[in-house]
Amino acid sequence: MEKTFLMVKPDGVQRNLIGEIVKRFEAKGFKLAGAKLMVISDELAQNHYGEHKERPFFGELVDFITSGPVFAMVWEGQNVIQTARDMMGKTNPQEAASGTIRGDFGMTVGKNVIHGSDSPESAEREIGLFFGEDEIVSYTKQD
Ligand code: CMP
Repeated sequence: MEKTFLMVKPDGVQRNLIGEIVKRFEAKGFKLAGAKLMVISDELAQNHYGEHKERPFFGELVDFITSGPVFAMVWEGQNVIQTARDMMGKTNPQEAASGTIRGDFGMTVGKNVIHGSDSPESAEREIGLFFGEDEIVSYTKQD
């Protein structure tokens, strides 16, 4: 079953939005396969956001994502990568539609509440960065 990596960012955790966000993905029908509250190290942040290294906002991005606890999650379900992105809304909350997570709760492009993998390759990479295999459950009974 397809899996994706989603993360409630420090602003979302501080604003007590973990429950609201988890509720939306559960209500949609996706399964939570892994989750942890953690503070991201500088090294993990640089690695996770490596593709943005040359962007002018990279330093700000790393400073923010390491500034407080995040809630890292693995979700699974049919087409979960794209559907989760649709449910999150556009990166800039000012452009995100009402009814999406960023449209409903976000204010700025930096503090935009949630991160989600943008492709199967990113999902595999990001899940591997944040979770060990023993931290992800399976809903299918294995023999
Ligand atoms: P995310 O989906 O976590 O992936 C990269 C992040 O970079 C993105 O969400 C935004 O929060 C952040 N970002 C994008 N553009 C800017 C910007 N101009 N200034 C600060 N952060 C940005």
